[in-house]
Amino acid sequence: MPKPFDPESFIEQKTRELREEIGEERALVAVSGGVDSMTTAVLGSRAVGDRLLAVFLNDGLMREKEAEQVSKILRKLGVKVEVKEVSKKFFEALKGKTDPEEKRKAFRETFYTCLSEIAREKKIGVLLQGTIAADVVETKGGVKTQHNVLEQIGINPLEKYGYRILEPLKELYKPQVREVARKLGLPPEVTERRPFPGPGLSIRVLGEVTPEKVELVRKATKIVEEETKDTPCFQAFPVLMSDQATGVIKGKRRYGRIIVLRIVASEDAMTAQPVELPWALLRRITERLTSELGVVRVLYDLTPKPPATIEFE
Ligand code: XMP
Repeated sequence: MPKPFDPESFIEQKTRELREEIGEERALVAVSGGVDSMTTAVLGSRAVGDRLLAVFLNDGLMREKEAEQVSKILRKLGVKVEVKEVSKKFFEALKGKTDPEEKRKAFRETFYTCLSEIAREKKIGVLLQGTIAADVVETKGGVKTQHNVLEQIGINPLEKYGYRILEPLKELYKPQVREVARKLGLPPEVTERRPFPGPGLSIRVLGEVTPEKVELVRKATKIVEEETKDTPCFQAFPVLMSDQATGVIKGKRRYGRIIVLRIVASEDAMTAQPVELPWALLRRITERLTSELGVVRVLYDLTPKPPATIEFE
């Protein structure tokens, strides 16, 4: 029988390893507010204290108030954190791109270039990443290109970006990461948080990403999150379609936006099932998306993973 997972000894061992591996250098970690990157940040800070800098890249693709919440939580735990405003660079990089893989590539390159600029400016030689086992398994299996798994695309980070990458959570799956996060004192809004993808809302706007479409999907995300906060599920989010459809607004036919609701149950994101949402709740979400945002159609996605993925891109 394999030994049950012990978060305490994991923390002890990883802190020690990180301390050795970082050596005398300074380390950087990009935090998104997700349990993986936040756990990595706290582990790193335990290992090397102030020689770790956490940065929140304000890429324009995050949800409302995310930057403020993330910085506040980390500061409370003694982690040094800075917010960098980089949204122009991301929208520029995504401009005109409609192919999902090209969009992911543009996101990834902009993301690492931004980090690399920070690292060079601050003479930081190590990047900590919150890559977890599912990311590695799925990228190797070709299910997805995860933005933070560089080796799969043959990138040598030291040559291309000037830093070494350490991934302390690489062997863990999500439930174990949450256990570690709780032990580290991260608050429930982080430890129990539903996953949110690194490329943020850019993969929830199908087709070309523009600030206006991101703003719409950001507002829709707020509505869906508010309405499903008590619904047990792994993820609940809206996706903005690239196609449009006819609707009737104030008695006039209008060609407008279509939003798909994706609400799934899952343990580790490797497989997922659509949640049987109460009809009344589905109706309420639809009512809010149409009346508050002027969307003309709301669809519910019934597809399990596989054959679908959880995200649309
Ligand atoms: P898929 O869509 O591949 O997603 O079934 C599985 C899980 O991974 C999340 N996801 C990502 N997370 N960077 C991330 O940090 C990414 O590029 C990325 N793509 C998908 C997704 O939200 C789900 O939890």
